[in-house]
This record gives sequence, structure tokens and C-alpha cells, in this order.
Amino acid sequence: MPGNNYNGNSGIPTSRVERLLRDRELRKSNRSSHLNEATDSSRTNEAFEYEHRLREEENLGNSYVQQYLEGAVAARALTEGCERHDEKPFRQRLLVVANRLPVSAVRRGEESWSLEISAGGLVSALLGVKEFEARWIGWAGVNVPDEVGQKALTKALAEKRCIPVFLDEEIVHQYYNGYCNNILWPLFHYLGLPQEDRLATTRSFQSQFAAYKKANQMFADVVNKHYEEGDVVWCHDYHLMFLPKCLKEYNIKMKVGWFLHTPFPSSEIHRTLPSRSDLLRSVLCADLVGFHTYDYARHFVSACTRILGLEGTPEGVEDQGRLTRVAAFPIGIDSDRFIRALEVPQVQEHIKELTERFAGRKVMLGVDRLDMIKGIPQKILAFEKFLEENPSWRDKVVLLQIAVPTRTDVPEYQKLTSQVHEIVGRINGRFGTLTAVPIHHLDRSLDFHALCALYAVTDVALVTSLRDGMNLVSYEFVACQDSKKGVLILSEFAGAAQSLGAGAILVNPWNITEVASSIGQALNMLPEEREKRHRHNFVHVTTHTAQEWAETFVRYMEYGLVSCN
Ligand code: UDP
Ligand code: G6P
Repeated sequence: MPGNNYNGNSGIPTSRVERLLRDRELRKSNRSSHLNEATDSSRTNEAFEYEHRLREEENLGNSYVQQYLEGAVAARALTEGCERHDEKPFRQRLLVVANRLPVSAVRRGEESWSLEISAGGLVSALLGVKEFEARWIGWAGVNVPDEVGQKALTKALAEKRCIPVFLDEEIVHQYYNGYCNNILWPLFHYLGLPQEDRLATTRSFQSQFAAYKKANQMFADVVNKHYEEGDVVWCHDYHLMFLPKCLKEYNIKMKVGWFLHTPFPSSEIHRTLPSRSDLLRSVLCADLVGFHTYDYARHFVSACTRILGLEGTPEGVEDQGRLTRVAAFPIGIDSDRFIRALEVPQVQEHIKELTERFAGRKVMLGVDRLDMIKGIPQKILAFEKFLEENPSWRDKVVLLQIAVPTRTDVPEYQKLTSQVHEIVGRINGRFGTLTAVPIHHLDRSLDFHALCALYAVTDVALVTSLRDGMNLVSYEFVACQDSKKGVLILSEFAGAAQSLGAGAILVNPWNITEVASSIGQALNMLPEEREKRHRHNFVHVTTHTAQEWAETFVRYMEYGLVSCN
């Protein structure tokens, strides 16, 4: 259940939690009665016309995401009856602060910019959040040194309700490539700290940490500029662990939440980080701290007790009478958006093409950013072992691996790219024929409709993350499988294993033999069992949505503020 106390003891009779649950039930019943009304003849013409237009636009390729960013989806949420039980229209202003904006900018001319949708779970989940009057503050993924360019980009982004934070090349190098992606990301995924020459590492560590703090202050400055009283400020992910402190120093009354989209590792791992205490103390300045799973929340609380000597309580962490609430809020997806997409003619056409293209072969699918935490080499090696041991399957199965390029300026990611290419080449050389290869590897991202079609034609999805905060790809696959009822092979080290474990085949991705035999089990699974497993996961994915996740988090924030001095 979203919003579990970190200790998972939902039986604890805290009045805040009770109030929250009551409130949530009331909102749910309000919304469903309103929706029932809407399906009756009392449905308003505007709502009907809006939906019709939405469908038409979706057919025309004017994407949902674009509409979301322009505010249309939020408007629809209002017409669909997102009202409070006190009958006041609910339109909480929300400042979403994340390193990455939902769109990345590409410069086309001195004053001309084009915007492309950014990839990754954080962006996908937050695009599913419709209830709030949201503004998004973040980095557009590009260096803009000149004032003319900054002005033009600010204007283009404003149309998408986005506000840019301009980071120069040096800061990006030290803060984003360095501290975030070379230190925190691997550490939080249990890959440890960099092992290079000690002196050099220490020096670069210090300058990267300084850049990290500076960048967080730059984000805070932009938030402060746009903050209005009553706003909820929701900070996201490991890039912005310093932000809650900067914001509370500026305005103690600001409602600040922080959510981590990655795992939070065992305190034994976190304590190796030289800046371990500074980061924990800053995060504790938030009013509410959220994680995907109860385990991550528990690790965070024990890091605070063991490293900072603070007291862990069932509700969070206490420091001299001041409580920072800590809880698990498992993220979800906007499942309706995926289900609806399957009806779009363009997607159906694509499904038809793919079905014809792979006729007579079972389709296995991997969709990952090309990141070392995704276990892509392990997945491919397991597939190789499966082909080795099952010659009869060699011309009857194909693995489609979408590997979205990511963080390409970080050397570890560059090494991974060549490693994966080498393994794919070797396996295709070994098992391919003149007319077919066993692995189709794509080093690029797909648009939303192409991705949905691919999910829909897949027989077996393979998620082999070595660690993963949640893994939304597994949710998206399930949402698109209601007619095919394919099988999900899922790493036990992904947060999603805790919610989709009952319907998936769980594997340890380090155990190549086990993954290979799970591939066999999945390909040979009888329809009744596939149906049963799929039903279980489908119900979960369609009831635990991104919308519900965000609502629960923001509601929780409404109970109490934390000061930080
Ligand atoms: N995704 C995308 N373009 C692609 C492939 C994937 O935008 O070509 C999206 C995918 O739909 C999913 C997200 O990227 O929503 C990946 O999220 P996940 O939680 O699985 O992993 P993360 O990338 O956040 O580590
Ligand atoms: C993960 C992180 C996000 C990040 C995304 C894409 O999902 O949790 O914060 O945005 O990966 O990575 P990138 O470095 O391109 O933003």
C-alpha cells in the first residue's frame, strides 16, 4: 500500500495516518461517484468533446505528453471531478524539482529550440500525475552560455510549464557526470565507490561534491524565484539531496518533500561515502521523505540512526523533538494511457507489421537505458546459454533489446556500450543465419506508440536489473499485455519484484544458468498459468497508478512541517 510507514507496520494507530486514509477513501468515493455520473446521460458536453479531441489528437500524433505539458491533461482531471470532499475544487500548486526536465532541448538556431521527450522512469511516472497545477523545474540537458539562447529557451519551455535551471559545462561535468552519476548512482545501486588511484579520487571527490552543493543551490534559487505561498515543493532523486536544506534555509514554512527514485542502500554501503552525514542531514530537512519500497526506507532510517546517532521511530527520524516522516510510496504508471494507446490505429498497424515480421518465432523483449545496473550483458549471456542448451529453439525465438543511450559522457557507460556490442556481435555470429539473427539490438530510444506496439507483441519480457529502484518497464509491459498474456521474467533486485513478484518469474540476474532455465520455463508456459500470472499483475498495475502515488505523497505532506536550522 502506498504510504506505508517505513517499518511496514500498518497496524500502528497514528492519528495522522488514520486521517490520511480517511481522506483518501473520501476522495476515492467522490471521484468514483462523479465518474459514474459522467458515464450517465448527465455527462457534460465539454467533457465529452474534450475526450473526443484527445483521441483525435492522439491519432494525429499530437502526443499525450505534449498535452500534459501544456496543461490540457490537468484541465481534464478537473473536469473529471477531482474535488475535495469539502466540495472546493482541488488545484494544489506543485513545484516538481528534478535534475531532468521532461523535455530535453536541442538548439536549431540562435533563438530556435526544439524539445524532445526525455527518457527514464522519473519522467515517465511524473507525466502520469494529473491532479495538480504543476510546474516543473530542472535542467534541459544542454549548455546554453549566451543570454539570447537562454531567453529563447526559457520562453519555449514556459509553454510546456517548465522552468529551466542553467548549468554550465563545468558544473555539469563535476555535478552530473561526476558526483551524481559516477559516485551516488553506482553507490546507491551497490556497485561501490570508484576504485581509481586514491589521491586523484579524493581530489576529484572533493571538487565534485563542491559542485554538487553549488548545483543544488542553483536549483534552490530558481525554486525560490517561482515559489508562491501555499505551493508544495517536491524534490526528486539523488541529484538533489542538498535541496531540502537550501530551501528550508530560505523559507522555513515551505512545504518540502523529497523522493528517491533509486534504491537507498544498506547503511553499511552508505557509510563508505565521505559526505554521508551532510547528505543525510540535508534530506532530513524535508517534511516528508519517500522511497519506492519499505526496505529502502528502512535502510535510510538505519543510516540516520547509525551514522548520525538519531532516533528512528515508526513514523520516521527524530532529532531533538523534530520529526522527519519517512515512508514507502511505491510508484506506478499511468496504465490507462498505455491501454488506450493500443487502440490507436497507428499502434495497431505497427502491431500487425511486427506480428508479420516475427511470424513463427516467439518474441522476447528487453527495454533498458544502457546502464550497468540493468544487467544487459547478464541478460544476453543467459539468452546465449538458453540457445546453446536448446538447439530446437534457435530459429523459433528472437530477442529484441532496446538499449537507450544514456549518460554518454561518463566513461563507465562508454565501456558498457562497447562491451554489449561485442557480446551481441559474438552471439549473432554464432547462432545467426544468412536470413535471421537471434538478437536485434537497438542503440536508440523509441517513441511512445512504437514502444506500446512492441510491448503488445512480446511473448516474454526480460528484466534483469542488478539493482533497480522500481523498474517501470515491467509495469508498462504488463499494462500492454491484456490480450497476449505474456510472461514477465523479473530480477528479484528490482523494486518491482515486491509488487509484481507473484505474477512474474523471479530470477537472480547474476545466476546465468537460472535465467536461462527461466527463459525455457516462460517460453513453454501453458496458457492457463500465463493467464493467472498476468491477471495478478495486471490488477496491480492498473490499480496502483502514478496518479495515486503522487496524490498520496502530497497528501502526506499536508500533515506537519519540519524546520531546519
Ligand atoms: N523509455 C523511453 N524511451 C525508450 C525506452 C524506454 O522513454 O525508448 C521509458 C520507458 O517507457 C520507461 C522509462 O523509459 O517509462 C524507463 O523507466 P525504468 O523505471 O524502467 O528505468 P530507468 O530508466 O528509470 O532506470
Ligand atoms: C533514472 C533516474 C532519473 C533519471 C533517469 C534518466 O530513472 O532515477 O533521475 O532522470 O534515470 O537518467 P538521466 O541521467 O538521463 O536523467
